[in-house]
Amino acid sequence: MQPDDLHLHLRDGDILKAVVASTARVFRRAVVMPNLKPPITSVKQAIKYRERILSAIPDRINFTPLMMLYLTDHLSKEVIETGYKEGVFFGAKLYPANSTTNSSDGVTDIRKIDSLLETMQSIGMPLLIHGEVTDLDVDVFDREAYFIERTLIPLLSRYPSLKVVLEHITTKEAVEFVENNKGKLGATITPHHLHINRNSMFDGGIRSDFYCLPIAKREKHRIALRKAATSGEPCFFLGTDSAPHLRNFKENSCGCAGIFNAAFALESYLEVFDQENALDKFESFSSIFGAKFYGLPLNSERITIVKSPQLIPNFLEVKQNDKIIERIVHFHAGKILEWSVVSSYSIVQSKL
Ligand code: DOR
Ligand code: ZN
Repeated sequence: MQPDDLHLHLRDGDILKAVVASTARVFRRAVVMPNLKPPITSVKQAIKYRERILSAIPDRINFTPLMMLYLTDHLSKEVIETGYKEGVFFGAKLYPANSTTNSSDGVTDIRKIDSLLETMQSIGMPLLIHGEVTDLDVDVFDREAYFIERTLIPLLSRYPSLKVVLEHITTKEAVEFVENNKGKLGATITPHHLHINRNSMFDGGIRSDFYCLPIAKREKHRIALRKAATSGEPCFFLGTDSAPHLRNFKENSCGCAGIFNAAFALESYLEVFDQENALDKFESFSSIFGAKFYGLPLNSERITIVKSPQLIPNFLEVKQNDKIIERIVHFHAGKILEWSVVSSYSIVQSKL
């Protein structure tokens, strides 16, 4: 059955036009992150953004973007109520202020959004969380574990029936915490955190292509994530966190966080499930558990995947008026992946 990507960055403008088909050719729906510049904080902005996404999708492709609201300290309850009841917002995203890309308008103190969370709980609107503290006393590799202790545990006890997803989990602690709170808490797992550990960022030099947030952790955490993803536990589901940045913003003295994995995401996950002898668990992870957690109908469409190796190109081209202006590096660039999605729609990739 066709999968959903329950955590995706599509950006806007030329980048949106370049990347959206990568997702839409494989995934039936995607939860689209609101951390644009400026962020999506109103119903009107979300409607307009959804229109731009839909008009960037190639003809004949059936794809539904599920829009997210960006929480800020000063947002009104009315935006939440109206946007959710009118079916514009699928959920709201909590970015602790300055935790990641375009999060400077995020929440500075969780207690400042108590009334918003209260409203979300009462109307059944899901809260999706970037789970990292930003306190300067906390090491960057410990930010997720501290978030669970300092913010998430109190939050879950204050709002016992709020539907919460801890996004892109990266640690053994998060895996255990989600398992112990399954039912009310779900978690997405990215392909990159299943493949790389923190050494990958320093393999022979500094490799900004593997820099993302939350940052990749030690090998024991990667192993715990692979076990969780392939466990068959319904609380763990697919969310790529594909986060495209132009080449020159990654390869920079202050490179951006984010890995663009959308074009070969399914193949990337499949490689892991195959290596873990868990191909029988793949469909539930990619197409069932997330939809069930959110109460979405299961997709009726199907896709075909075959064990047929393919060389992953280095770049996706970004065009402006048909002229190539920039490139985005693919995750697994220049490597061979063992699986392929068979699709009638193919994307022209740069081999350079
Ligand atoms: O690596 C990341 N990139 N993590 C995030 O949380 C945001 C994302 C982005 O938007 O670039
Ligand atoms: Zn993200």
